Amino acid sequence: MEKISKTIETMGIETSKEPGNCLWCGAVTAFKGVTCCDKCEKIEIERSKKTNAINNHRVLSSLSKIPYRFLDKQLDNMPESYEWQEEAKQMLLGKIKAFDYDRWRLPYLYGNKGSGKTTIATAAANTAMLKRGVSVYYVNVPMLLNNLNYYAEHQSEILAANMLILDDIGHHSINKRSSSVLFEMLNDRMNDKRGTLIISNFSIDELVEELLRSGLNRQTTGVIRDRILEMCDTMEVKGRNLRLEKVIEEG
Ligand SMILES: Nc1ncnc2c1ncn2[C@@H]1O[C@H](COP(=O)(O)OP(=O)(O)OP(=O)(O)O)[C@@H](O)[C@H]1O
Ligand SMILES: [Mg+2]
Ligand SMILES: [Zn+2]
Repeated sequence: MEKISKTIETMGIETSKEPGNCLWCGAVTAFKGVTCCDKCEKIEIERSKKTNAINNHRVLSSLSKIPYRFLDKQLDNMPESYEWQEEAKQMLLGKIKAFDYDRWRLPYLYGNKGSGKTTIATAAANTAMLKRGVSVYYVNVPMLLNNLNYYAEHQSEILAANMLILDDIGHHSINKRSSSVLFEMLNDRMNDKRGTLIISNFSIDELVEELLRSGLNRQTTGVIRDRILEMCDTMEVKGRNLRLEKVIEEG
């Protein structure tokens, strides 16, 4: 208390050696002018940590470009629990716990339509933003490859994000120019060893087939595949088509 009183005095706050009262709970404090008791101070510190984390999360969320409807879910409180999502959820929780600024390995999640891949990946991103202060950037790959100006305009955010989500790779036509943008982006992310989470309806072998079918040559397809394999471990999220079920339910 002696020390606190000294510090407060040097900050120009008036204290007196008489006992005072805590501003929050009214408990008697050793010195007048000390705004709260030790117990309330601990609570206040925890509360302000929480407020800072929430404010930080708001800023990170708005910069992340995660579509609005995916912003409200966290990995540990998903609205429903589906057994086929469990393994990916646990793995992603482990990745968030082990977050490392420049050596973060994130998965290539693939599986059938509507199984919940984007939901799980963005819930992981929300959890990582809230609990770890990780910066996230979400990119829909077909949109990016159809609109290469987007890459030019957002390149710095895409490359700097701690976690980059590349959603729906494979569902696009691709040409020489867009394939070189895709390659460049994957290559830069790989070299930086930042986390890149890729989502697809195709396994890596199927993705290779898709890229070849859309006219890409074997060499370019090969270097794209190698970058993905170098950065990501693959994990399948195979389950019911929840989107279809929702549509049927809603009639
Ligand atoms: N755990 C969950 N709890 C509640 N709703 C969920 C859950 N997982 C997914 N959904 C819902 O299921 C629908 C499909 O999920 P999502 O869009 O994540 O699937 P997807 O695998 O990314 O599909 P696609 O391959 O077509 O992009 C969405 O409406 C989503 O809100
Ligand atoms: Mg999706
Ligand atoms: Zn108090």
